Amino acid sequence: MIDAAEAIRTYLRNLLSPSGYDVLLAESGARALEMLEEGAHPDAILLDIMMPDLDGLETLRELRGRLPDVPVIMLSVLSKASTVVEAMNLGAADYIGKPFEAAELESALERVLESRRQAEESNLSRSSSGRDRPTFLWASESMRRIREILEQIGDAGVTVLIHGESGVGKEVVARTVHELSVRKANRFVKVNCAALPEELLESELFGYERGAFTGATTRKPGKFEVASGGTMFLDEIGEMSPKLQAKLLQVLQDGEFSRLGGNVDVRVDVRVVAATNRNLEEMVRKGAFREDLFYRLNVVNVRVPPLRERPEEIRVLTDHFLEMYSREYGREYIALSDHLSQGFAEYAWPGNVRELENMVKRIVVLQREDAIAEEIFGSARPVLLSTPEEEDEPELDPTEEGVSLREIGKRAAREAERKALRRVLYQTHWNRKKAAKILEVSYKTLLLKIKECGLAE
Ligand SMILES: Nc1ncnc2c1ncn2[C@@H]1O[C@H](COP(=O)(O)OP(=O)(O)OP(=O)(O)O)[C@@H](O)[C@H]1O
Ligand SMILES: [Mg+2]
Repeated sequence: MIDAAEAIRTYLRNLLSPSGYDVLLAESGARALEMLEEGAHPDAILLDIMMPDLDGLETLRELRGRLPDVPVIMLSVLSKASTVVEAMNLGAADYIGKPFEAAELESALERVLESRRQAEESNLSRSSSGRDRPTFLWASESMRRIREILEQIGDAGVTVLIHGESGVGKEVVARTVHELSVRKANRFVKVNCAALPEELLESELFGYERGAFTGATTRKPGKFEVASGGTMFLDEIGEMSPKLQAKLLQVLQDGEFSRLGGNVDVRVDVRVVAATNRNLEEMVRKGAFREDLFYRLNVVNVRVPPLRERPEEIRVLTDHFLEMYSREYGREYIALSDHLSQGFAEYAWPGNVRELENMVKRIVVLQREDAIAEEIFGSARPVLLSTPEEEDEPELDPTEEGVSLREIGKRAAREAERKALRRVLYQTHWNRKKAAKILEVSYKTLLLKIKECGLAE
């Protein structure tokens, strides 16, 4: 139990000890980390979001790094959507608003401990949240047609090129290609071609020999070798450099390549599925993408339509995510109000299914619609190009215990970042490459920021 307020620490010890819990108390994140180093091995952690030294979210990040299988329940007086979602995205198992009822806390504890036990039993604890495999819905005519195509090509092993806007479900389609194929017993390996600089991407894909460069002290197999017999998903293929495009073409043509610093050809049997939100044909015309590679990849072409072109799915997906997240976070299932359902139906969903999923997640966690309603109704009007009304975060009250000037500054900075991010992502229709350029950060930093700000998975 980590909380800056002594009264709360004592209260929790008195509450939990009689129920048989062995309670360790820490007054700060730093102290908690120290206790771990001294050998503490908790089964679950209760953590206050707002603490003076290392703040709760930073502590959470540290804890998740060291104890990925130990569930962390966040406690907070703040019920701000962004903070809560940020905590959930960092892997918090649950969230309880202060003040809380004793029963509420006990049931949350029991729940996270139980799901950890189950995860251990079924050996699922590899995924840190112990989550089940996600279910995918094929809830519109256009998506069902895509699934039919995937079924038909299952055994053929042909390459598949998937394109569509951000968040439409390209990865879902790629995984389904693998699941429906004879290769499903082998691995599905995903590599994001935009997330790494050229050299790193090359060594990631093709591996390297010992001594290939300074620091290469051992041989490392590339992802193509890891995926052998299975499926390689090359995400954001449009961002691949010409040099790697050439190397990839060779793998597709001959099933062969050489590791960095090596001259032996490695043979692999991998099915390649590639995805992009760029217009590759146009890139080919402009000379930015190799035409021969394009034809090699484009044996089967799947266009995943944006959510606004399959509005009949909005309702089904909403219910699905409501149900899924209520279960995952142990919250009561609450249907959307008619007003918000109507708003959802008319909203343009520039971030597609991912945006819908995140909104529903927030509603479930907070058990409140208001923050979302503002976003939806603030931007539903002229469809894509409008910027949503900003959701203003309540300011921190400096007279409250544990609110330091530093904390206020940090929070304001984070909030400013979040607003800028949101605006640019809307402007670019969630084209993250473009957004990174506008914001002058690397693509990788942008992905991290999106996650930290609770804007996407
Ligand atoms: N048909 C579906 N059923 C259930 N969940 C879905 C479906 N389609 C998409 N999702 C969910 O929406 C989110 C976004 O999907 P996915 O990652 O496949 O999109 P994407 O097109 O790869 O996005 P990006 O271009 O941003 O990488 C995921 O969390 C995914 O599980
Ligand atoms: Mg994707």
